[in-house]
Amino acid sequence: MSKKEIVVSGIRPTGKLHLGNYFGAVVNFLKLQETHDCYFFIADYHSLTTHPDSVNLKQSIRHIMAEYLALGLDPTKCALYIQSDLPETAELYLLLNMFAYKGELERVSTFKEKVKTQPNNINAGLLTYPALMAADILIHQADLVPVGKDQEQHLEMTRDFAQRFNHTYQNEVLPLPQAFSFGDELVKVPGLTAQGKMSKSNSEKDAIYFTDEPKILRKKIMSAVTDSGPTEPNSKPSEGVQNIFELMRLVSNADVIEKFKKAHADCTIRYGDLKGQLADDVEQFVAPFREKIDYYYNNPEILNKVALSGQTKAKASARKTLDLVRGAAGLGL
Ligand code: ADP
Ligand code: TRP
Repeated sequence: MSKKEIVVSGIRPTGKLHLGNYFGAVVNFLKLQETHDCYFFIADYHSLTTHPDSVNLKQSIRHIMAEYLALGLDPTKCALYIQSDLPETAELYLLLNMFAYKGELERVSTFKEKVKTQPNNINAGLLTYPALMAADILIHQADLVPVGKDQEQHLEMTRDFAQRFNHTYQNEVLPLPQAFSFGDELVKVPGLTAQGKMSKSNSEKDAIYFTDEPKILRKKIMSAVTDSGPTEPNSKPSEGVQNIFELMRLVSNADVIEKFKKAHADCTIRYGDLKGQLADDVEQFVAPFREKIDYYYNNPEILNKVALSGQTKAKASARKTLDLVRGAAGLGL
């Protein structure tokens, strides 16, 4: 029997999960766990770049673990672990840093963005973020990395670091992983405030969270950015309106979307109705998950057990890679 392909992906515990995380990453995790050798983790080291409060961080880690389980990740089918429970990652990060050049790290778009948004905290961890992400992936010798479109550049760098390592030590220890999505392309879910991708780093009103209460959810969606309405037949929807259609594509029926598209084309659309429909359909989609998230979050024994079994599985795979990598680099006696 041929060996199963290896899959790795992680999400930073910087807040709760939103629809962008779900449709960009988690839907792929759910499918891949059925067929592949999967490692999914919570990237807590990564979140330290912004110096989060330690109590909040711990809560966030537990919350994402509860969400992973509630959304359908099954610890009997995949390794579900916490990044800092696998310090082998930190050792590989150190080795990969020797292959990560300052100039290219400074050109990474997520880094440049942070230089703008947090000019008082441009630390080395932020600069070398792509090397840590590469270590997460390469520590399991992954083939596929299910992520949203925003992570494409990091994946390219992972391949560059791996290739340089292999070339320098003249071996093929580290396979070159590919970003992966079941659709034709990597996904970018827009937010509600027309600031690009849905993100917890945008304003409070931008992201739709699984744990948003129905009232909050409706309020957020009803105040999504639109425009003053089409005045010319068949005109192109503005960015905000286009985003609402894109969100509907994820949660609404095709005939409902078609009806609103026609109404936009003949200028009879009422954005209140459009947003009301999206609010109903999102509520229907997230409601079943809310209770499950609550259940897992309030059952620390389950969370602890899952994290421990995930750590054990991940450690076995990480030790194997580190032995090869250390051997290739000539470390030790
Ligand atoms: P955020 O940008 O809200 O902080 P993360 O960076 O923690 O989210 O993303 C975790 C995973 O979710 C990554 O695989 C990322 O590509 C994916 N993701 C995040 N936001 C989106 C989005 N709006 N559309 C598609 N995928 C997304
Ligand atoms: N950088 C990713 C993000 O911001 C999170 C992440 C860290 C990750 N390590 C990873 C994703 C390894 C995939 C594989 O969303």
